[in-house]
Amino acid sequence: MSTSSSKPRIVIYGVGQYGGFFTRFAVQKGWTIVAAFNRAGPKVGLDLGRVAGLDRDLGVIIQDCETANYDALKGKADIGMVGQTNLLSLNLPAYKRLIKAGLNVACHGSESYYPWGSDPATASEIDALCKQHGVSFMGGGIWDMSRIWSGILLCGPCTEIKSLSHSSITDANAGQTTPAQLIQIGVGMTQDEYMASGLPKSRIPISYRTIPEHVLKALGYTISQTRERVEPVVFDEEIHSSFTGRSYAPGICVGTRILAEIETKEGVTAKAKIELRLFKPGEVEHMFWSVDGMPHTRVRVERDDSPHATASNLFNRVPQIIAAKPGVVLCSQLGPMRHTALA
Ligand SMILES: NC(=O)c1ccc[n+]([C@@H]2O[C@H](COP(=O)([O-])OP(=O)(O)OC[C@H]3O[C@@H](n4cnc5c(N)ncnc54)[C@H](OP(=O)(O)O)[C@@H]3O)[C@@H](O)[C@H]2O)c1
Repeated sequence: MSTSSSKPRIVIYGVGQYGGFFTRFAVQKGWTIVAAFNRAGPKVGLDLGRVAGLDRDLGVIIQDCETANYDALKGKADIGMVGQTNLLSLNLPAYKRLIKAGLNVACHGSESYYPWGSDPATASEIDALCKQHGVSFMGGGIWDMSRIWSGILLCGPCTEIKSLSHSSITDANAGQTTPAQLIQIGVGMTQDEYMASGLPKSRIPISYRTIPEHVLKALGYTISQTRERVEPVVFDEEIHSSFTGRSYAPGICVGTRILAEIETKEGVTAKAKIELRLFKPGEVEHMFWSVDGMPHTRVRVERDDSPHATASNLFNRVPQIIAAKPGVVLCSQLGPMRHTALA
């Protein structure tokens, strides 16, 4: 039970890197963690505090998500923090279990930022279930402030908008990236291997395409057409990665580029160029928006501490998600997020 009615009572669903962040933030802020769930494996049966990297037990034993009793959460927890996969459809069983127990859901998967653009059928199912149980669902993470709200705020002073342009470079070495995750963006492949891999036909570009879609929708435009594709990123000089301990020759893939183009009924267009890749020495992670309109404006968001940032973007949204109207809500609909530094 909550130690204070003003502090959210949370459930961790998926005790991985970001489930660990949510746990440590909650402990730091004095929020009660009611329960924790993970798929079967070595974490089940262990204390959440130890698995999350704390040096003490929290008295919360990680339960197998397939066999746990979710009715026990009714009236005892406010929100479930889901950090397992990016796909709405794959996460759906987790959402259903939490929502049916009367919990709001905060999901860290990338398709959940703008479910209507990523997977409309699953979005409808989640929305209906939330409304039936009087709870809300929101997806969030680092795009909230750095990609979505930065784009919305940039357009605030405009009296005319012709087009928007978004670009970014994200360091594939940041955080606790695993070798398997590097392969998922093509690092180390030849260009032929990349094109023969599943990457060009994967779902990777879909959630990135929803960034300009989401911003255009928040600005009041109606999307009429969307296109997206992925291509390998290669450099024309050799680079060495201290993370993998390997050197990558010119022409070898160092990551993935996602290109998206959006058209609206009103005639305003948006495009995005997003690179997830290894960095050359001196490069800095950043997100960039420019608006061709009046005024003509640009904003560049830089950051350090990316893993902390993506987890805290979602964590700091929790009070707003709990207070939101039932159904699927977007971070753009909740106003700017508020820090928890004073909490
Ligand atoms: N929103 C954003 O902007 C943003 C930014 C970065 C990352 N992400 C996404 O956030 C998610 C979590 O990332 P992470 O680094 O915390 O991953 P992680 O360390 O691999 O943790 C995922 C956790 O969920 C469990 N899990 C994985 N797949 C599952 C499934 N199909 N069913 C049930 N449980 C499952 C894993 O169980 P095991 O114990 O078996 O491993 C693990 O405990 C990923 O999808 C990642 O891509 C989003």
